[in-house]
Amino acid sequence: MARKKISLIGGGQIGGVLAQLCALRELGDVVMFDIVEGLPQGKMLDIAEVGSVDNFDANLKGTNDYKDIAGSDVVIVTAGLPRKPGMSRDDLIEVNSKIMTSVAEGIKQYAPKATVIVISNPLDAMVTLCQKITGFPYNRVIGQAGVLDSARFITFIAWELGVSVKDVNAMTLGGHGDDMVPLVRYASVNGIPVMELLEQKYKSAEKAKEVMEAMVKRTRGAGGEVVALLKTGSAFYSPASSAIAMAESILKDQKRVLPTCCFLQGEFGVNGYYVGVPAVLGENGVEQILQFKLDAEEQAMMDKSVAAVKSLVDSMK
Ligand code: APR
Repeated sequence: MARKKISLIGGGQIGGVLAQLCALRELGDVVMFDIVEGLPQGKMLDIAEVGSVDNFDANLKGTNDYKDIAGSDVVIVTAGLPRKPGMSRDDLIEVNSKIMTSVAEGIKQYAPKATVIVISNPLDAMVTLCQKITGFPYNRVIGQAGVLDSARFITFIAWELGVSVKDVNAMTLGGHGDDMVPLVRYASVNGIPVMELLEQKYKSAEKAKEVMEAMVKRTRGAGGEVVALLKTGSAFYSPASSAIAMAESILKDQKRVLPTCCFLQGEFGVNGYYVGVPAVLGENGVEQILQFKLDAEEQAMMDKSVAAVKSLVDSMK
């Protein structure tokens, strides 16, 4: 079987971790594209030279020429500026829209069969723009946000309850902004509702609610928490790992159910916008969107989050 091919557009902080994870997991051959001369070549050479130590077989290539992404199965886009302390993701829209326009044109021309995973922020707007310019079918242009937002929520729950992150299940839907929607009702430890465990721990429903609210708030601001600490950029290990989970599900046709920024056509009452929802990811990209009924409170949060996505996306028109 021929090896799969993954192209990474953007060879910065996230791009570097993406390349290393692709190699370590032997997902396929990897091309890293960046406009900075030498940067992608240097990073790919650096990773390639420890293939014998890390025990992987993969061809790794750095390039400044879009031609090299030809034949990609999956393209992951991180090209664009990250935020600095005090900035919101939305503050990046102007500069990153210009970058995304040129990136999407390159992908359209040289990798027309690829499934594209966008990470660049502001995510909901950048994925919308990428789809529009490539003209690829909606199922093949998606965004990474929900896997990471959910992982952050899961981490805080696991720490609070003193249990393994592996046994916590929780999802965050909606846009990738401060109004994202962590689903409290479905958060569980191997199926046991987290709220029930918090009530037992604190012997008070009120205190349990308070603790959960604090975790939801921390989840919403988790990207900013990292930015404030790093001061020079934004999170990079965690977005890379999250996008790799999505890429792996597509490349290996795993059909994992991952919260994904998908184009909605009526699902969850949303029409014509990219929003985070649970999706089945397989060789055809988004193969299904799993729908379920939100309660009134969740729907209100979703509506608020979608309204924020709409105003951001509409500001590009
Ligand atoms: N084409 C390709 N690459 C570009 C272009 C372009 N037109 N413009 C900039 N780049 C490259 C930069 O040269 C840099 O190497 O994109 C890379 C971005 O890397 P970093 O600045 O290290 O940013 P990173 O932390 O990787 O985040 C990238 O993902 O999570 C989002 O908010 C984050 O928008 C940011 C993006």
